[in-house]
Amino acid sequence: MRDVYAELVRTAPGAAVARRLGLPRPAVLRRSEPGAPLLGGPALVLAAGSGASVFRTREAGDALASLLARAGADAQLDLAAVPEGTRLGAVVVDATGVTRTPDLTALGLALGPAVRRLGASARVLLVGRTPAHLDDVEAAAVQQGLEGLVRTVGKELRAGATAGLLRLAPDAGPAELDGPLRFLVSARSAFVDGQVVDVAAAVHDDDVRRAGEQPLSGAVAVVTGAARGIGRATAQVLARQGAHVVAVDVPAASGDLARTANGVRGQALALDVTAPDAPHRLVEHLRRALDGPGADRLVVVHNAGITRDRLLVNLDAARWEAVLGVNLAAPLRLTEALLDAGLLGAGARVVGVSSTSGLAGNRGQANYAASKAGVAGMVRALAPRLGQVGATANAVAPGFIETEMTAKIPPLLRQLGRRTASLQQGGLPVDVAEAVAWLAEPASAGVTGQVVRVCGQALVGA
Ligand SMILES: NC(=O)c1ccc[n+]([C@@H]2O[C@H](COP(=O)([O-])OP(=O)(O)OC[C@H]3O[C@@H](n4cnc5c(N)ncnc54)[C@H](O)[C@@H]3O)[C@@H](O)[C@H]2O)c1
Repeated sequence: MRDVYAELVRTAPGAAVARRLGLPRPAVLRRSEPGAPLLGGPALVLAAGSGASVFRTREAGDALASLLARAGADAQLDLAAVPEGTRLGAVVVDATGVTRTPDLTALGLALGPAVRRLGASARVLLVGRTPAHLDDVEAAAVQQGLEGLVRTVGKELRAGATAGLLRLAPDAGPAELDGPLRFLVSARSAFVDGQVVDVAAAVHDDDVRRAGEQPLSGAVAVVTGAARGIGRATAQVLARQGAHVVAVDVPAASGDLARTANGVRGQALALDVTAPDAPHRLVEHLRRALDGPGADRLVVVHNAGITRDRLLVNLDAARWEAVLGVNLAAPLRLTEALLDAGLLGAGARVVGVSSTSGLAGNRGQANYAASKAGVAGMVRALAPRLGQVGATANAVAPGFIETEMTAKIPPLLRQLGRRTASLQQGGLPVDVAEAVAWLAEPASAGVTGQVVRVCGQALVGA
């Protein structure tokens, strides 16, 4: 679906009118391209706080700057050393030492001048600690304060820049941080804005050490609802990252499904996820796929989803059952069957597709919101269970994404959906796909039980 308004205000006369009337002028977001540098400019690394930092130890040196340098960034420790006129690609703050109230003031004051120097589609990324794990009440409070700070900065940034907060559990360190840090500073996270992600100790030690060009080589990735939209883009990105893709969709969509599968040199499986024999058929198919040469881990992306919108008072049983059946009951049943069959082992990944409507509620979507909040609940409950076998469960929660699903929304509401996000536009299917692929990577072994919104910091559900 084209965003005609955005196209218009990007023309010279359109921009002039929009400026005069104070209308939103959405930026063109920098998205991942092969061979492109990690960032559009140098990454400034700052440290804040009066407490002990996880990174600035005498032995380790400044591990945060080293992680960024290893990822390909030009890491700088001093803004004064960045030539005048050079725009920053990112500012990354080690806030693990933020333990006292005045630390927040110092952090804010240090961040200001750096934010002023940010370039287009730049990143502001804070690295803190998970408050729930801190015994010191003031330390927990000010660490929580970082969330308010980051979410506000996200709303103030311009030109496609985004903000984020990664919070480390006490047993997590640079090894677990590496993958999430790379993702959140890169162009792959173009539409992930104002998000907080907790990082724990890796569920599977070997995982965090496996990086490289094709982090998903050896993975068999099943994507439901892969005939079009977000599912198709997810199949494409997972395949680009090296996974062997099994694309699933209803038999009626088998033409489009074949196109997805052929395009990624994967397999097509025509299957209604709500069919009584769906778990059995999926398990049998995946058993054979995992038997293939080099296949060593399973990635499951529960993407198939439907809407049947009505106000609660007009929602009949059929609309409730259809939506809950596809969006929630099927992911629950399929995951259970894969667990029972022993297919979710070390390194496996379950990724649910929730929705900001599920997290915040949305008029006319009681059935859909219940199903999508259910997906968030599913991955949170699965995480500890999967952790025991070295696997993770997470969800992405897309906001307004330009697909056939959102093309059905009435025009005025569609404009509202796009413009009320901090990035002032809808996301693309590839934006959700990149987040799913990141969660599927071995380097995300410390990320589990998380729900990551891919919503451009939408007002709804932010
Ligand atoms: N587009 C958005 O803005 C948005 C926002 C939040 C969440 N989501 C979620 O993202 C997912 C993908 O959305 P989309 O916009 O690409 O939707 P879409 O309607 O374009 O595609 C959904 C796909 O799922 C398939 N599907 C439906 N029922 C199925 C079943 N029973 N068995 C197998 N496949 C089935 C459809 O055939 C279709 O190919 C959905 O779960 C949706 O709820 C989308």
